[in-house]
Amino acid sequence: MTVQEQDRATLRIGDHEWVLPVVAGTEGERALDIRTLRRETGLITFDPGFANSGSCESTITYIDGEHGILRYRGYDVEELAEQCEFVEVAYLLIHGSLPNHAQRAEFSRLLNLHSLVHEDMIHFFSHYPDRAHPMAILSAMVVSLSSFYPELGENRREDIDMTVTRVLSKLRTIAAFSYKKSLGEPIVYPRHDLKYCDNFLNMMFSSPVVKDPINPVLADALNKLLILHVDHEQNCSSTVVRAVGSAEANLYASISAGICALSGLLHGGANQHVIEMLIDIRANGGRVDSAIERAKDHKDSYRLMGFGHRVYKAYDPRARVAKQICKDVMAATGQLDPLLDIAQELEFKALADPYFQERNLYPNVDFYTGLTYRQMGIPTDMLTVMFAIGRLPGWVAQWLEMRGDGEPRIVRPRQIYTGPGKCSVIPIDQRP
Ligand code: SDX
Repeated sequence: MTVQEQDRATLRIGDHEWVLPVVAGTEGERALDIRTLRRETGLITFDPGFANSGSCESTITYIDGEHGILRYRGYDVEELAEQCEFVEVAYLLIHGSLPNHAQRAEFSRLLNLHSLVHEDMIHFFSHYPDRAHPMAILSAMVVSLSSFYPELGENRREDIDMTVTRVLSKLRTIAAFSYKKSLGEPIVYPRHDLKYCDNFLNMMFSSPVVKDPINPVLADALNKLLILHVDHEQNCSSTVVRAVGSAEANLYASISAGICALSGLLHGGANQHVIEMLIDIRANGGRVDSAIERAKDHKDSYRLMGFGHRVYKAYDPRARVAKQICKDVMAATGQLDPLLDIAQELEFKALADPYFQERNLYPNVDFYTGLTYRQMGIPTDMLTVMFAIGRLPGWVAQWLEMRGDGEPRIVRPRQIYTGPGKCSVIPIDQRP
């Protein structure tokens, strides 16, 4: 389905009038179609941060920010997290429907086929400084994949399943290898007899002296958490993936750019900063009230990390599921984490505070997820890498949709220039 004209709007400036279409999507959200605006009126729109602008139409993800609804291809995220495996949801995002047994088996075969990285890539890890952030390594390794598969440049449609499953499988391997290298431990290779999440946990935590580190409770929690992150329509990193892909850059270069965008602390990097914030609060005697007061003070750059959202003006449905996963895992492992108590007190007091109520600030996806990853033993600086592993199918689906729209137009917004008028060069000897 494409956007349907539903109404018309009249723009009147002085004694000029123009009529613009009003279009609507499947769930009734409406937009002013301004695709002919500059040609007809000479005007552009002005919307820094694009909070009021739709960059595309998409059939992938639907968010109702006012009611806290998130659906991938029409399925509620809560139902997918409860009933599906991450690989099935990845298939859903990329192919548009949940796989049957045969499709699932073929998808898994391709993921296994591509789970190794070229042995030459393993040497790359040895030359990063010890304190290199895993997201910087991940982005560099993903764009480097292009050099091992030069045919990528042709962007041939018939190669797409190989190209897509290759990066879906290798991203998980690169993340685990990067972690092992940071510990100085031998890397653990992927195995064809393990499912996606078990394989990742095995690569991360088994070693010559630790066999079978996979706790099924944690593997199940990882499966659910990855599903929660799979896509989120036109968020910052997905917009970057689309923009880079619109220039005809290959999929791996586009994904690498998306990883860089996700690393920002206002975006996916927030999950790492949530844990650091909770650790700081605990170190300061657990005084939640002072953290809340700082977050409300605009003279202080401090914000409650994991709180607030551009689209959700209600509780992020992913945060609700992530909170329950965290409590279930702690109950199952018996490893209680005092940071959860601090997080819950922070949430309770913030949601009771008029400052947060007036601005519709609620916990977002990043508020509780890091606490569960801590239960798995995943280090704080790898939390955004976990976000990237979950988000990868969404980035791929967004890229494919953008490239599938006939002849994609390169993303190139306009601006309002407010700089100096025309100047003439003064020779340097005569400059003041
Ligand atoms: C993700 O877009 C997506 O879908 C992203 C994501 C995805 O799945 O891809 O959902 C993942 O990035 C989640 C967000 C993770 N980031 C954080 O948790 C960082 C903390 N949150 C904020 O920085 C902020 O809420 C943003 C960046 C998430 C949203 O910023 P907006 O939409 O630009 O909102 P804003 O900065 O204009 O804030 C509106 C008001 C301001 O106060 P006033 O100027 O109106 O008085 O709310 C205040 C802000 O100061 N505010 C906060 C706050 N978030 C907003 N005040 C204190 N703490 C906060 N966390």
